[in-house]
Amino acid sequence: MPGKPKYYLTTPIYYTNGLPHIGHTYSTIVCDTIRRYKRMRGYDVVMTTGADEHGVNVERAAKKAGVAESEFVAKMAAEWKALWDELGIPSDEFIRTTDLKHAHTVQWLFKLCRENGYVYPGHYTGQYCIYDNAYVDVKPGENCPDCGRPTETVTEANYFFKLSTFQKPLLDWYAQHPEFIQPESRRNEILSFVEGGLRDLSITRTTIRWGIPVPGEEPHVFYVWFDALTAYLSAVGGPNYEKQGYWPADVHIVGKDIIRFHTVYWPAFLMAAGLPLPKQVWAHGWFLMDAAKMSKSKGNVVTPRPIVGVLGMDALRYYLLRETVFGQDGNFSYDALVQRYNSDLANGLGNLASRTAAMIEKYFDGSVPAVVAGIDPRYDALLHTALADIADISRYYDVFNFSRVLERIWNLISEVDKFLVIQQPWTLAEDPSKRDHLARILYASAEALRIASVLAHPVMPESTQKIWNLLGQKTNLDLQSLDELTWGQLKAGTQLGKSQALFPRIEKAEAIERMEAMENEPQKPVTAPAAATATGGAAAAPQAAPEKIGIEDFAKVEMRVGQIKTAERIVGADKLLKLTVDIGTEIRQICAGIAPFYEPEKLIGRKVAVVVNLAPRKLRGVESNGMIIAASVGPEGRPVLAGFPDEDVEIGSRLK
Ligand code: MSP
Repeated sequence: MPGKPKYYLTTPIYYTNGLPHIGHTYSTIVCDTIRRYKRMRGYDVVMTTGADEHGVNVERAAKKAGVAESEFVAKMAAEWKALWDELGIPSDEFIRTTDLKHAHTVQWLFKLCRENGYVYPGHYTGQYCIYDNAYVDVKPGENCPDCGRPTETVTEANYFFKLSTFQKPLLDWYAQHPEFIQPESRRNEILSFVEGGLRDLSITRTTIRWGIPVPGEEPHVFYVWFDALTAYLSAVGGPNYEKQGYWPADVHIVGKDIIRFHTVYWPAFLMAAGLPLPKQVWAHGWFLMDAAKMSKSKGNVVTPRPIVGVLGMDALRYYLLRETVFGQDGNFSYDALVQRYNSDLANGLGNLASRTAAMIEKYFDGSVPAVVAGIDPRYDALLHTALADIADISRYYDVFNFSRVLERIWNLISEVDKFLVIQQPWTLAEDPSKRDHLARILYASAEALRIASVLAHPVMPESTQKIWNLLGQKTNLDLQSLDELTWGQLKAGTQLGKSQALFPRIEKAEAIERMEAMENEPQKPVTAPAAATATGGAAAAPQAAPEKIGIEDFAKVEMRVGQIKTAERIVGADKLLKLTVDIGTEIRQICAGIAPFYEPEKLIGRKVAVVVNLAPRKLRGVESNGMIIAASVGPEGRPVLAGFPDEDVEIGSRLK
């Protein structure tokens, strides 16, 4: 019996000089979604991600941290890997470019290119961008045209790769494989780049120490892109790739920033070595913050943990894939994220699941009702919508049109909602003669819900599994075949499972405040993967007994008497007031979460206790430079400002 067809996909091999933000998380979530979808379509799938650990950047970051490069990258790679595990998106292969098996593959690829006559020695002088790890076409003193950061003049002896000879073979390849570069706009961009002519590329360095050595040619080390791209091959067997059977890759998922490396250099290296080329490179757009690319160097990053902690991983996955058309840039906003969470997840999918289950519970003792056979136009419309969705949604998944997939599933959900409003099962339930009709209505909504869950599973694995169990299914939804999905598979008499909270509604301002506060905390290093996948809202850590501190610790907190000068509400943040506070030496802007309890006008002139040496942070995008002390009263934590009503204290006095 023939085995399952193999499918191999990759995320970029991420630089490890910082921790993952939403941009990186997006690439990995996309790959995980494709992986899950392909598995549900019967493929034997391998997904690779990894750590790109060589280059000047790392050399310098390690130096700054005062540790050896190997120690620095080992720690960072472990943190990245642990974070992917914690988020429930672990790869099947995690390749580190410092792995020995990877070094062997790079050296082997170079040897093949050299033996085939595509490598020659030379010298190169040019402007080098250490951030992008690439020579760029600018004059000395000019900044990198791609990232805008300073470039450095570098002269070095290196081996050149005859990229120029691959202009025609590449153009032929693109013409014969129109699907190779996706989306179309990127394909056009690359075609014109290659049509403009290609210059030979230096693929070894002598000015860098931290890299894979070129055997017998020390001090040459490999150019980081020659090194990193090869990781895709090392992960699935390297020189023995044929034995494992996953190469060539079905798709490399990358951001648009690195499309040229993947669609020009990488296929040229493989052609030179006589190896098979990947079948497709798919470049997605960027997530922007205030119209700029989210990136660590710009300091405008949003990281995944706070979102997952407050809304759950499925909410993040849903938002990222629904909000932006795959391939285009998207704007990231907490506001839109929580909006989608409440409207589509809490009120949409979550509400439908709990309503349907509650009615089956109430009217049929929690057992899926049997339906009388035969055509009944009262629910056939729903059946037809669901059947059309099953066919169309697979097609959308096949072309990675995730936003359309979700649009269609949510259309089905709203059809069921409308259907319930029109059919009014709660009214039918009052008339025993309408019991058959009631059974059909509830069967149809449960069956549509089941189908929606199976179809949404690749995007929202955790919550759809919960709905699957709620509908009395005991199996692992990962193993459900999408090819066999059809209407009517929910068996009458199935006993529903326990109801579980799916997406509890959350107040927007509160959710955003919590996420922003977590984002502003210093990033905790990842020590070990969380016991459970951190989805569905991270559980609060058990409270340890409060530790006693010494007076020297207390003395680190500088508290002073301040006087409120102005107070105003912040649009879109119901709980926050923006205050300006005189602390004796200066006037500070401080945000305080007291808006529901204090009228801004009544605060003017009031003396308060202020922590003045807190690092500034942003709350709902507004800078807050200090903290007003308040008691937290009652179970709801009502804030009561600490103050000095009886004494005339001088502004700026220190609290001790
Ligand atoms: N190490 C190289 C890749 C080598 S692949 C053989 C690299 N690493 S990176 O850490 O900078 O990650 C780049 C990838 O992260 C991008 O290609 C993209 O997939 C993702 N993103 C980083 N910032 C992003 C956004 N703001 N938005 C969306 N994705 C972006 O380049």
